Amino acid sequence: MNFEIKSSDIVKQKTDCLVLSIWQGKTQSQQVQDFDQLTNNTIANLITAGDFSGKLGETLVLYNVANIAAKKVLLVGFGERKSNPIENVDKIAKSIANLLTLLNSKQLVISLAHLNKTNSYGFVKRFVETMTYHSYRFDEFQSTKAPVIKTENIQFSIVDKTLIAPAELGLKHGLAVANAVSATRTLANQPSNVCNAQFLADKAKELNQHFNTLKISYYDEKALAKLGMNAYLAVGQGSQNESIMTVIEYQGAKDKNAAPIVLVGKGLTFDSGGISIKPAAGMDEMKYDMCGAATVYGVMQAVAELNLPINVVGVMAGCENMPGTGAYRPGDILTTMSGKTVEVINTDAEGRLVLCDVLTFVERFKPEAVIDIATLTGACIVALGHHYTGVMGNHSQLVDQLLTASNQANDKAWQLPLDNDFQEQIKSTCADIMNSSGRDGGTITAACFLSHFTHNYHWAHLDIAGTAWVSGGKKGATGRPVAMLIQYLLEQSR
Ligand code: BES
Ligand code: MN
Ligand code: ZN
Repeated sequence: MNFEIKSSDIVKQKTDCLVLSIWQGKTQSQQVQDFDQLTNNTIANLITAGDFSGKLGETLVLYNVANIAAKKVLLVGFGERKSNPIENVDKIAKSIANLLTLLNSKQLVISLAHLNKTNSYGFVKRFVETMTYHSYRFDEFQSTKAPVIKTENIQFSIVDKTLIAPAELGLKHGLAVANAVSATRTLANQPSNVCNAQFLADKAKELNQHFNTLKISYYDEKALAKLGMNAYLAVGQGSQNESIMTVIEYQGAKDKNAAPIVLVGKGLTFDSGGISIKPAAGMDEMKYDMCGAATVYGVMQAVAELNLPINVVGVMAGCENMPGTGAYRPGDILTTMSGKTVEVINTDAEGRLVLCDVLTFVERFKPEAVIDIATLTGACIVALGHHYTGVMGNHSQLVDQLLTASNQANDKAWQLPLDNDFQEQIKSTCADIMNSSGRDGGTITAACFLSHFTHNYHWAHLDIAGTAWVSGGKKGATGRPVAMLIQYLLEQSR
């Protein structure tokens, strides 16, 4: 789908389909009033007859409207006039995307008569993101493909010329986010027999072919061992697939030595639980345990696409947790890269073991901030459900910046307390700390574990166990929290 912005006279414009936004109630935009005057009160009549009310997300297709150049006119309900259009955009874009699978319209002109200075950037950005989200299909492995949208070209028509520039910027940012979310979803949706740590590394290599601003390096098991990343290595010991850490470096700042923002993604391409094996029901979904790494991949793509004037490093910590002959066991004591020792209580608490070594490794970048993204704890789903990403950290300004970005990007996140009182729960009798401590406050004790390895920089942790994918009938990766992180990086680029 190609998007563009134009200032045009919508009644005269030849197109397959013209989309008009209709408010609930009697008062309509000037554009709708003009439309009605030319067309014998088409819309007013529909409203009076009770056939269309303008309720948010409502749709109606009209054919052969007299005096209108478009072949079809699609009416979309925009809800109450006083409501904020940006808050309504998700429902509107979703309705249009769903309807477009049924309509045979190659081009679409969407009239945006209701925009003003404060909302045109945000409306266009969110519209592109939501349309793309709902048009996304993952049918690589299906012989019967899901119905696709036939629309190739979508034009936003804006009356007020002063709104074109902010709308253009909204389009540019929206496209970068939309493409990144789709890229993350497609990577995350790959099954574990396709997507292993090597696959993640190959994907990074491919990204590098599109954007030569990215520098890629790899650390296989031999390299990880040389660095002393024994906790990371222990997790992958039971798997036939090699553990590989992939590092993607982007230098966009004028000052090449400016401290980078580092993103660390948990990349468990499958998490069986290891010797502390998981129950069979729902275990298939553990192919999504690499959503943190997939998020890093998507965000790095957007950073390169937008040429952001900052330095960013993305790390994908690729690994597989399996109960093989060589597998690590409960009771093992691991010496991490930092020198701290960890008693393994549960081999299913593997994410923190992989991450702790990577968090030590990234010290070498002398980061401005480190953000890790991980499907870390089932407890996060108990605490925040599937709507909010959990946020914790050791620096309140960084946490606040992420929460603000999450609000702006409509990619919800909520802070949990990273309180020292919880540290008691992970004290070990035979090592420095242990990797698991039972059910209570599981998301926080996991973050407490990570906090032992982040003393030397500002750090935030995003637990995306509840938000990175949808279970059940509509099973699939969501691409969260890509939008929030790109928003954060856009703010850091100002
Ligand atoms: N990848 C899982 C967390 C997870 C579980 C994400 C369910 C999404 C849905 C993680 O590696 C894990 O197994 N965590 C354990 C930790 C426990 C053993 C302390 C958990 O949450 O049960
Ligand atoms: Mn696990
Ligand atoms: Zn896991």
